[in-house]
Amino acid sequence: MLHVILLECAIELVPRELTSLKEIQANARRRRKKPGQLMLDQTHHGRAMTRLDGKEQRGRPDITFLSLLSILETPLCKAGLLTVHLHLLDGRVIEINPDVRLPRNYDRFIGLFEQLLMNGRIPPEGEPLAKIIDTSLPDLIRDLAAGSSESLVLLAIEGGTKTSAESLRNILPQDSSVHVILGVGAFPHGDMPDSVRDLFSTHLELDKEVMMAWHVCAEVLWAYSSRVGIIGRW
Ligand SMILES: C[S@@+](CC[C@H](N)C(=O)[O-])C[C@H]1O[C@@H](n2cnc3c(N)ncnc32)[C@H](O)[C@@H]1O
Repeated sequence: MLHVILLECAIELVPRELTSLKEIQANARRRRKKPGQLMLDQTHHGRAMTRLDGKEQRGRPDITFLSLLSILETPLCKAGLLTVHLHLLDGRVIEINPDVRLPRNYDRFIGLFEQLLMNGRIPPEGEPLAKIIDTSLPDLIRDLAAGSSESLVLLAIEGGTKTSAESLRNILPQDSSVHVILGVGAFPHGDMPDSVRDLFSTHLELDKEVMMAWHVCAEVLWAYSSRVGIIGRW
């Protein structure tokens, strides 16, 4: 089983300190929403965001969107061997239903995730596609790892152990009952906080260059899928 956790996801609603700014109010009018109901997005709120602490790491929901697109609806996901969680910058954790069909359209994804951040789940009734769960990142990792007697807790990170595509494949277990937890940062700039980094026992650098989060997700997911025999069987 592969458990992907997107770390420090740059998704949040427009914070209170920006809601009275003209640029935000105009954007809210165009979207027929209240300013505090809008997803913070550097594309639309870049100028206002210069006032925010930690602005380099915030307002990039596209990273989460593209990463989710790269891992959901894959053969591994369809085989029931994938779970996905989002860990937000404020520490909250979102569980994604792996059977979800994510909107292909970015604006629709934003609308849906605005509702999720406001109401704690989407849709409001019935089986959730995604919901905020009452756990912390350390507890989540511990619980996922406890699902099997053996587990691997991997963090993709620059500066980790240099790991070629071949070595990556060899590190991954052939037995899909062994739980593999993979952390990938879903923020644009800055360093992974030590408090997050230290929760992962194995750190892997997959290329000498910095990679996009969705490429990292895709690389590990396809290596794992091939290792456990979900793809490449004819
Ligand atoms: C654009 S980076 C985030 C930038 C940030 N400087 C960092 O150090 O995490 C997105 C994420 O992809 C993963 N990543 C990026 N480059 C990588 C590499 N060369 N090897 C392994 N993982 C990498 C990391 O999990 C990283 O957090």
